[in-house]
Amino acid sequence: MLTPKRLFLATAVALTLTANWAQAQDNTFKIGLILPMTGQQASTGRQIEAAVRLYMAQNGDTVAGKKIQLIIKDDAATPDQSKRLAQDLVVNEKVNVLGGFGVTPAALAAAPIATQSKTPLVVMAAATSSITDASPYIVRTSFTLPQVSVSLADWAPKNGIKKVVTLVSDYGPGIDAEKFFNQRLTFNGGQVVESLRVPLRGPDFAPFLQKVRDIKPDALFVFVPSGAGAAVMKQFLERGMDKAGIRLIGTGDVTDDDQLNDMGDGALGVVTSHHYSASHPSAMNKKFVEAFQKANKGMRPNFMAVGGYDGMRVIYEALRASAKGAAMPTGDALLASMKGQIFESPRGQIFIDAQTRDIVQNVYLRKVEKKDGQLYNVEFDVIKDVKDPGKTR
Ligand code: DHB
Repeated sequence: MLTPKRLFLATAVALTLTANWAQAQDNTFKIGLILPMTGQQASTGRQIEAAVRLYMAQNGDTVAGKKIQLIIKDDAATPDQSKRLAQDLVVNEKVNVLGGFGVTPAALAAAPIATQSKTPLVVMAAATSSITDASPYIVRTSFTLPQVSVSLADWAPKNGIKKVVTLVSDYGPGIDAEKFFNQRLTFNGGQVVESLRVPLRGPDFAPFLQKVRDIKPDALFVFVPSGAGAAVMKQFLERGMDKAGIRLIGTGDVTDDDQLNDMGDGALGVVTSHHYSASHPSAMNKKFVEAFQKANKGMRPNFMAVGGYDGMRVIYEALRASAKGAAMPTGDALLASMKGQIFESPRGQIFIDAQTRDIVQNVYLRKVEKKDGQLYNVEFDVIKDVKDPGKTR
């Protein structure tokens, strides 16, 4: 029977349990990552997840007394899903930070959720310049296509490449790459004689490459998203474009470290510009690559992995800097502590520009070479501290 005394005790126990539960909830800092774990962009999700887990294994899952909980949701790079998942993570899971975002449309779809809920959103992969304008809560640790494209357009005319055809995936980052490469090459006295755009979904490169062969430019400049480079390389070689004297150049997305070693010797000599190579010769990168490979059955980290790894660093340090006592920092406090972070990444020194919330980083010119029997993007020149040229502010 429930006597008044028993009722009192039962209530007291229930209250204590509720309080403990609330405290446990309050003490958990939730990071909700939205990533393409399936579909055409799945390699991006796989690389970022591996890097994020490595960061946590190396740095622990307690920061400023808060327990870090990682929640990963698969959006298959479909913007409707990205938006629905962002909403669910914010409303039901009450995440403190959103992150990931394998493609531009995913990041753009989730941006309004970040704004409405005042939740910082760390873009670890997507790379269209305008993404950071879509919400004042967006911070980026990947790169932008204008950032990496202009350096190649500076290099090309000095290296006998004047007449170029561009071939890009027909969406945000491709259009950025096409525009900024063209503008800079023209400024440098070169010429883009044809601009070709291929569909993002299931592209067939054959008819486009045939057209390039007929035009016979000095070089073909390519941007395709991570995971699509091997198909371009294969068809480029199968059509004997290299033998016809057409050079392949592009952003480093084409010679993606996730696929490069399987592309074969035909890839040797391809020059690209990008912000990360697994062969970047720094002590920190050597350690990063070794630890990543050890934890992932020899998988080589690519530029997506580094965006995820550094994204976690930005989140951990923002929590450390903004946590005061037992209370959980607000989204605004976290965001403020993300802005202006400066630190060494496996790619080199990086900086989160407080004004634009975008990344400032070195851009490297690289050539595919063989090292210890494996193909790598070997860096041969660096342009330091490059801001996104796509920002007009
Ligand atoms: C984007 C996706 C990629 O896989 C990549 O390499 C560059 C940009 C994007 O959708 O923004």
